Amino acid sequence: MRIDVFTIFAGLVDTFCSESLLGKARSNGLLDLRCHDLREHATDAHRTVDDSPFGGGAGMVMRPEPIFASVEAAKPPRPLFLLGPGGRRFDQRLAQELAASDGFSLLCGRYEGIDHRVREHLVDEELSIGDVVLSGGEVAACLIIEAVTRLLPGAMGNSVSPVTESFGASGLLEEPQFTRPATFREWDVPAVLRSGDHARIARWRRAQALHRSLRYRPDLVEALGGLSDDDRRLLEEFASAAYP
Ligand SMILES: C[S@@+](CC[C@H](N)C(=O)[O-])C[C@H]1O[C@@H](n2cnc3c(N)ncnc32)[C@H](O)[C@@H]1O
Repeated sequence: MRIDVFTIFAGLVDTFCSESLLGKARSNGLLDLRCHDLREHATDAHRTVDDSPFGGGAGMVMRPEPIFASVEAAKPPRPLFLLGPGGRRFDQRLAQELAASDGFSLLCGRYEGIDHRVREHLVDEELSIGDVVLSGGEVAACLIIEAVTRLLPGAMGNSVSPVTESFGASGLLEEPQFTRPATFREWDVPAVLRSGDHARIARWRRAQALHRSLRYRPDLVEALGGLSDDDRRLLEEFASAAYP
């Protein structure tokens, strides 16, 4: 998978993506990440990439020329996404779609944003990581790169986890997880998880995933068409053992 990132803080993205799972994916050839410094395509001595907005107003706007020049020189994989609060919301489904592709590219804004001709004539789509305003697209780029790369076959040690975790195959939130010790302070791990009864453990897990999704993300259950009769029975069976 090749991912190109266009930014004025290439080091920031490169450093984040050099650690942990991303660092490993890069060193074992799963991820070919190329960070392009937009300032390399600025034409003045100060390597300026921004200017004041036409029509007046606060802040500065990124000029189109270095961005067009950088993208045209790199010939990055498409789609090229502009990162911005006005874009389509990035989610796990899109992460899965991108993970199944050969690559894509991300353009990070700074200041008050980017000259709109870039949006109209250079990028394919705008992507947002949520209804918040960041100071730049680099954190959004790192978030997207991490969410996509961990889904690449071989990136994670346990290849089952992207299926069973939140927003995976079930479409629900994941059930609560526990590890040793079996008793911590006065809090015990649920007895069912230590019972060795794998069919009952699977039913408990599904019931907990349903409980948590109904409580915190009822929209997920709705998107699945609501509860089935089996789900209702499971919720009743484990009603007294629902976790927050
Ligand atoms: C300060 S923001 C610009 C905000 C813009 N003036 C507005 O009001 O929509 C600077 C840059 O941060 C990035 N950014 C900010 N919020 C973002 C979000 N929610 N998702 C993705 N990128 C974001 C974009 O690349 C943007 O060009």
